[in-house]
Amino acid sequence: MSMIAFVVAAYLIGSLSFAVIVSKAMGLADPRSYGSGNPGATNVLRTGKKLAAVLTLLGDGLKGWVAVALTAWLAPRYGLGDQAVAAAGLAVLIGHMWPVFFGFKGGKGVATAVGVLFGFSPWLALAAAATWLFMALVVRISSLSALVAAVLSPVYAFFIVGPQSVFFGTTLIIAILVLHRHKSNMLKLLTGAEGKIGDKTDGGA
Ligand code: G3P
Repeated sequence: MSMIAFVVAAYLIGSLSFAVIVSKAMGLADPRSYGSGNPGATNVLRTGKKLAAVLTLLGDGLKGWVAVALTAWLAPRYGLGDQAVAAAGLAVLIGHMWPVFFGFKGGKGVATAVGVLFGFSPWLALAAAATWLFMALVVRISSLSALVAAVLSPVYAFFIVGPQSVFFGTTLIIAILVLHRHKSNMLKLLTGAEGKIGDKTDGGA
């Protein structure tokens, strides 16, 4: 099996948008049709259905980890190493952001990125997730928490996996992709229009 096969498999796993799948299974509206229009846990939470949001978070996070862990497990049998694991991590995130199964309209990648980082290094993921949680508790804004966690993730990677590791450069690319997907949120943050987590008046638009 070549590296391309691992990348394609990871991309297809990433293309499973759990916000859409969970919402459909639970009889909720398509998350692309309300709020921010983002198929992600934060937007699903705007329906008020916490279980659906938690399942979305778990599904999107787990797929990131599964794609990386499967590659790390299988790649050595085909003479491949960390490069293939890092490429699979990027591919699963790209699948989430631009999913082939959902018209290439995917999410912002926060949960999936944490899952990918967990596959690279559990400590790296824990540092990123703890940053998100700390920010969420302090500012109660999902996107701002994600932005801060994304900016700090490469810094954590520098110290945890080291600047020579392929996982450091990959974490940097992941952070840039997550920031890129939050452009509309950055505008809302600048204009004070971004809503708070669980706020009933936050329509997300
Ligand atoms: O994880 C996505 C979050 O950071 C922002 O989501 O729906 O408020 O744009 P949303």
